Amino acid sequence: MINTSLELKFSQIEILEKVETMAMQINNAYQGKPLVVICVLKGAFMFFSDLTKCLKCSPVVDFIKISSYGNSMVRKEGTCISKDIEIDVNDRHVLIVEDIVDTGHSMQFLLQHLSEKGAVSVKVATLLNKTELREVPVSVDFSCFTFSSGFLVGYGLDYAEKYRELPAIYTLKETKLK
Ligand code: IMP
Ligand code: MG
Repeated sequence: MINTSLELKFSQIEILEKVETMAMQINNAYQGKPLVVICVLKGAFMFFSDLTKCLKCSPVVDFIKISSYGNSMVRKEGTCISKDIEIDVNDRHVLIVEDIVDTGHSMQFLLQHLSEKGAVSVKVATLLNKTELREVPVSVDFSCFTFSSGFLVGYGLDYAEKYRELPAIYTLKETKLK
């Protein structure tokens, strides 16, 4: 039998401070230029909501959903779009808002997909930059936290669709019971 427990990694206050700092960096970078901000569902929904409240460029928001993980902590092969954006990003600046960049495969796929739609620029804002298992180089333009290993849940992040509602971020610990 496997027992799971949660250990606090980033508190709600720490997260909100980092998100506000990131929003300031984004505001400085775009200087009020029109921006399309794309939330990568589902994991980024809470981060996206807090971040967009602090943006000063009257962003247009849209949502995309890709699948690469199932109910598992290990990566499955292949990435596909299960819900595409609905607005036209041709000739527009795009900011992808993601929960975690891990191996980099999902972000590489998204960057290519959105560039092919004719965006002038596509930048990446991620809540968490998980560096240890990176397999493809991805340029992360804005990130709140960098960490090396461990599986995190809460503040939108799930394990088998659980824990998304938690306001802070936790490390998921699994222990085998005999
Ligand atoms: P990548 O393609 O390996 O970079 O996968 C990125 C996606 O995997 C993220 O958008 C998350 O949905 C998921 N993911 C990676 N690490 C974690 C984690 O520690 N907790 C929850 N989801 C994760
Ligand atoms: Mg994700």
